[in-house]
Amino acid sequence: MDSIPYTERRNAITMNIDTDTPEGIVDLIHECNMEVFNGYENHTGLSDDTILNKLDQFVSLVRINLQTENSIIVLSGCGTSGRIGFLAATFFNELCLQQNLPPKYRYIIAGGNSALVTSIEACEDDPVIGTKELQCITDTYEHVLFVGITCGLSAPFVGGQLEYCLNNPQKFTPVLIGFNPVSMARRTHVSKWINDTTFYDISLRMETTAGALVINPIIGPEPISGSSRMKGGSATKVILDTVFYLASCNNMMKASEVIEMYRTAVGTMEIEGQDMATVVEQAGECLLNNASIRYVGSSTFGIWGMIDASECVPTYNSSYNDIRGFMANDYFRKNLNPEPPLSFVSPALHEATPDDLSKTFEDLPPSSIVVFIDKDYLLQKPLVEKLQEKGHHIVWIKILSTELFDPNSNVKIIDLSKCIPSTDVTMQYSSAEIILKLCLNTISTGAHVMKGKVFQNIMIDVRVSNVKLFYRAIDIIKSLAGVDYQTAERCLIQSIYQTNDIINDKTIDQHIMAVASNHDHVVPIALLMSLSNCSYTEAKLKMDKCPIIRDICTGTNQSST
Ligand code: F6P
Repeated sequence: MDSIPYTERRNAITMNIDTDTPEGIVDLIHECNMEVFNGYENHTGLSDDTILNKLDQFVSLVRINLQTENSIIVLSGCGTSGRIGFLAATFFNELCLQQNLPPKYRYIIAGGNSALVTSIEACEDDPVIGTKELQCITDTYEHVLFVGITCGLSAPFVGGQLEYCLNNPQKFTPVLIGFNPVSMARRTHVSKWINDTTFYDISLRMETTAGALVINPIIGPEPISGSSRMKGGSATKVILDTVFYLASCNNMMKASEVIEMYRTAVGTMEIEGQDMATVVEQAGECLLNNASIRYVGSSTFGIWGMIDASECVPTYNSSYNDIRGFMANDYFRKNLNPEPPLSFVSPALHEATPDDLSKTFEDLPPSSIVVFIDKDYLLQKPLVEKLQEKGHHIVWIKILSTELFDPNSNVKIIDLSKCIPSTDVTMQYSSAEIILKLCLNTISTGAHVMKGKVFQNIMIDVRVSNVKLFYRAIDIIKSLAGVDYQTAERCLIQSIYQTNDIINDKTIDQHIMAVASNHDHVVPIALLMSLSNCSYTEAKLKMDKCPIIRDICTGTNQSST
């Protein structure tokens, strides 16, 4: 256990989340979220003095950069980490403009703009492309503060960029954000990293290089093991917002005071637990009945909806249509990096801002849920009424809007406005975002738990779309089926290629490419093969009869043959 990185470990709090009630699920996720601020085991999370000192140093670095000509701040990451970097860059650029300063924040996300709203996980393994993109974006600048985000201290895409910064210290100041000790950084080799470099090598260099900063508080394992979009994403947001907020204002607050404000805000969410549980229950039923969940929001609130939805695909192998987010204004597209015309454009990116939402929602399956985020509930009243006439459930997440609610309308309200601290507008908006993120994460995670996509607290239907997830899948099969590494790997590979044959002439990269065209339940089938010592064909047959993936782990499904 000691050698397993914290970000991959199982959290004792949620060991039985899969059999809990919706209220229980919400409470357990909340309890785990609070570990970000209050600590885990003997670690003190974001309240750690060493970390707080480093955050104050980080603030100074950002301030210097904001005042230096020909300099920029680049935020880079993969998946959720890249998405949160994008949101921070966009938000703080707006603040720069409001303060008549040049917008200095830039973002890079592995897989490009499409990866902001679609899962493009394989790019995470490419340090060469990471480096090229960094070179390209920083080419004309003299000074660059580079912030590489990788919750697990694991992504080679970010590792390559950090290595490039370390090799060019006259221009780059690198900062690494993640949530494991350096000793637990990933030591796996990936094919494209020359000299067999690993993320661990780069983390060590970062830790021992003067001027480089490693910010790696231990915030404890995720509520669903490995789901770094949850606590990892939240902690990343708190860190970035705290630092960039402090760097942008003249008050002499310390990082600890700002973080305390977030802690209070997130802690207060507990009072809305019952309402969130009602929505989790509805959302779970919705997925079980093949209905859909939709989020509608404007500006960054709308983007949070799109992001939350997109992350369910790799985590739970959910279908693109199960949960989707829509923008009600064009804020998102306005803030994207320019990309060459031939780059991949995800349909989600393309459809982010439909002209007519009521048309888009015309074909929603009966009893779907549409979640309106903040002021969009009020702006979209005619749409709300139309959807209600059709028997869909409406949820309103109220955060910053102050309008009173009509108690007669049949709308489920989650009133998070009580959690917003009474500080300045920037802090209020930033707190609103983190609270919204946690609320959406709870709804989508809870719904998938209820759908049976989680066994104990393990994501048993994860999509094996990069090297990290390949090894995570083997670990899941090994530990749940009690088989050795070789058996788990063999079953996984047979399930990927949908064959009973032994495959031993292909590389991990090829396995991952093959997953792209196999939307079956790759990991559950492999698990079933390992558990029942049966062939791919037999396991696939059993799987087809099993609508609830979790049942294969409890044995419910196996008795049906
Ligand atoms: O590979 C999938 C994934 O785990 C995403 O869920 C996550 O957001 C992304 O990788 C990035 O992970 P990390 O922040 O650890 O680099």
